[in-house]
Amino acid sequence: MLTTRPRGTNDILPGEVEKWQYLEELARNVCKQYGYHEIRTPIFEHTELFLRGVGETTDIVEKEMYSFLDRGERNITLRPEGTAPTVRAFLENKLYAQPQPTKLFYIGPMFRYDRPQAGRYRQFHQFGIEVFGSNHPSVDAEVIGLACDYLERLGLDNLEVHINTVGCPECRKKHKESLIAFFEDKKDQLCETCGGRLEKNPLRILDCKSPLCQELSENAPTTLSSACPECQIHFQQVQEYLTEIGIKYTINPRLVRGLDYYTNTAFEILVQGIGAQSALCGGGRYNGLIEQCGGKPTPGIGFALGMERLLLTLNQQEKSLPESGTPDIFIASIGAEAQKASFKLAIDLRKKGFIVEKDYLDKSLKAQLKTADRFQVKYTLILGEEELAGGKVLLRDMAGSEQIEISISEIEDFLERRLQKNE
Ligand code: HAM
Repeated sequence: MLTTRPRGTNDILPGEVEKWQYLEELARNVCKQYGYHEIRTPIFEHTELFLRGVGETTDIVEKEMYSFLDRGERNITLRPEGTAPTVRAFLENKLYAQPQPTKLFYIGPMFRYDRPQAGRYRQFHQFGIEVFGSNHPSVDAEVIGLACDYLERLGLDNLEVHINTVGCPECRKKHKESLIAFFEDKKDQLCETCGGRLEKNPLRILDCKSPLCQELSENAPTTLSSACPECQIHFQQVQEYLTEIGIKYTINPRLVRGLDYYTNTAFEILVQGIGAQSALCGGGRYNGLIEQCGGKPTPGIGFALGMERLLLTLNQQEKSLPESGTPDIFIASIGAEAQKASFKLAIDLRKKGFIVEKDYLDKSLKAQLKTADRFQVKYTLILGEEELAGGKVLLRDMAGSEQIEISISEIEDFLERRLQKNE
């Protein structure tokens, strides 16, 4: 137990963490170019936020939340997603008083008590964006386009953008009635959860994970068939804007998304070949959510992209990410005095901006050189007592094993020249 992490969680180790840093930095850069600003909300929120925000009859709320009473008897939930918290922060901090729309992004861990498998974890990470304050169809296309841009910069293949409209509350009412009528005589065959959902929220049956529910809903009426003229026009315009920026998409009338807040545009970016969890990114409009959370009626739209699934895809498609820097130099030392001098030299060089590794175990010179090789450094400085007394050190070229003597005061200049020229 003490040496085992909780089921569905991962350690991100050195070697792997550099990939995360690269993906996060790229996300920040792309967001900057599109004018999105980072927001960091708490890891936990009042449970009520998700009950209201995500919806009481969703899988997330019914089965997957990490909820507990804190010591002050407050009902708390580890955030299962980032949209409701971002809406809460938008309202609490009166971000609506600033020029609109508000364009935000976040990167961080989310928690769902899901059944773990490849690409599905209990703690996972999302990069997400949210736009509040515009219902313009170009915003829908920009949000979808930003996700595609990000994924394309990583060189991913086999991506498919699926879009649909789930309509406005009026369309939803109409669709709900037709779904209830459609499932009426199949009620007994639905899974237990869906049987209970039929009257309250039959839309959820369409994205139930049970194979039987999926089979039963195969010919169910689509949201598109219940869309009112206004919603159809919005959907049409979103498509025109997507075409304008060269995004290929598939209209998938079966795409309904698993969270209750969606209105109008819903979309997912799927990738073939990473197994069952093929949705890399999911999102859509939620024009009623801000009002539902206590704000003035304000349109909203966003997406979230699963970082673990993204890394799985990158591995699967054998896309390598740029390597992070190896140390510029290793410092080896022989003897106690030299160890002390190497300690100071390492710190001085680090303060000058070099990446410096050294021996910390008083190993033999041979063992230190082995360590330097493991770090793949080009040069090692060797500090021996004799050379030090004369203010000198040995500089060893690791590839050719040649050594030259240089004075300590020259090291910085030398490194700057050599490393700049990448010699
Ligand atoms: P979601 O579809 O629940 O949407 O999650 C978005 C993405 O997070 C998924 O496509 C997937 O890549 C990743 N993801 C979800 N659950 C897991 C899991 N258990 N393990 C690993 N990855 C997972 C949302 O969360 C919405 N808040 C998206 C959104 C933002 N809609 C509008 N704005």
